[in-house]
Amino acid sequence: MLDKTDTEALQREAFRRDVLDGLSRPTKTLPARWLYDDRGSELFEEITKAPEYYPTRTETAILEANAGRIADLFGPEAVILEYGAGAGIKTEIVLAALDRPGLYVPIDISGDFLKASAERIRARFPELAVEPVTADFTADFDLPGDLPETGRRGGFFPGSTIGNLDEREATAFLKRMRRHVGRGGVAVIGCDLKKDVATLVAAYDDAAGVTAAFNLNILTRINRELGADIPVESFAHEARWNPATSAIEMHLVARHPVRFSIDGRTFAMAEGETIHTENSRKYDVEGLALLVEAAGWRMDAVWSDERGLFALVGLVAS
Ligand SMILES: C[S@@+](CC[C@H](N)C(=O)[O-])C[C@H]1O[C@@H](n2cnc3c(N)ncnc32)[C@H](O)[C@@H]1O
Repeated sequence: MLDKTDTEALQREAFRRDVLDGLSRPTKTLPARWLYDDRGSELFEEITKAPEYYPTRTETAILEANAGRIADLFGPEAVILEYGAGAGIKTEIVLAALDRPGLYVPIDISGDFLKASAERIRARFPELAVEPVTADFTADFDLPGDLPETGRRGGFFPGSTIGNLDEREATAFLKRMRRHVGRGGVAVIGCDLKKDVATLVAAYDDAAGVTAAFNLNILTRINRELGADIPVESFAHEARWNPATSAIEMHLVARHPVRFSIDGRTFAMAEGETIHTENSRKYDVEGLALLVEAAGWRMDAVWSDERGLFALVGLVAS
């Protein structure tokens, strides 16, 4: 097992590579996972409380209404692997409904934030074994070596984080989760659904500017961690709908021509040029079913809200 210093050094090097590579492309991009340093994770929690951000409160209500059915799918003494756990607030609804869960393994790239969330879960559920894992779930990583063999293994992937992955990454992720849970395993995934564009754009561009601060924070992170000199105030947040990919895209748009340097490399951007920082793909249930089937899962249940804004789906390893 790598210790915290090794993990941080590897993460820092991966971050440096991704930033230099992404900003050298004709269309500048940064992988969304780097939005989540400590500050980014805090800002994401603030976004979830914004009046325009319907996904979290809708998903929470669906979980509350169906906690018993979800607990039945996981079964007694389950080992729960949660991918992109973040603050794990919605997870508490599931954990409270489970029948004597065997172990809870929250997994997240934002290591310190994850540890603080794990402490909160331990305090609320003193009987529950909790083993957080700091990892990038888009690549292979080690699960704790001592997973109990009592109940089923169940993947939990709420928050519509699946929407941040393109089709190839989503399929690879679903196959990885399928390998993690093994034969007889199950999973529950939360997924934001297609809907009118105005509602979607507002959810990613709240009036109080929290999503803007979340997006711009990646530039502050580059400056701090890579010794760069990006003039953060020269960029504006923008949320756009891309009908071709069925995704809300987050961009950082240069307000005027800018030059900056990162790790000895100079970058220039024209006014209006953008850095594409996140995709949030929106699915319909049929499209999601095809995606999961291609990765070794069968969709066994769909739990949604009355307005069809959001869905949680129950999957069984096929
Ligand atoms: C959209 S938030 C969802 C948080 C929480 N699960 C919820 O439902 O509110 C995405 C979470 O996944 C984490 N994350 C994003 N990309 C990741 C990656 N590639 N590997 C591990 N964690 C990642 C982020 O740090 C963040 O906590």
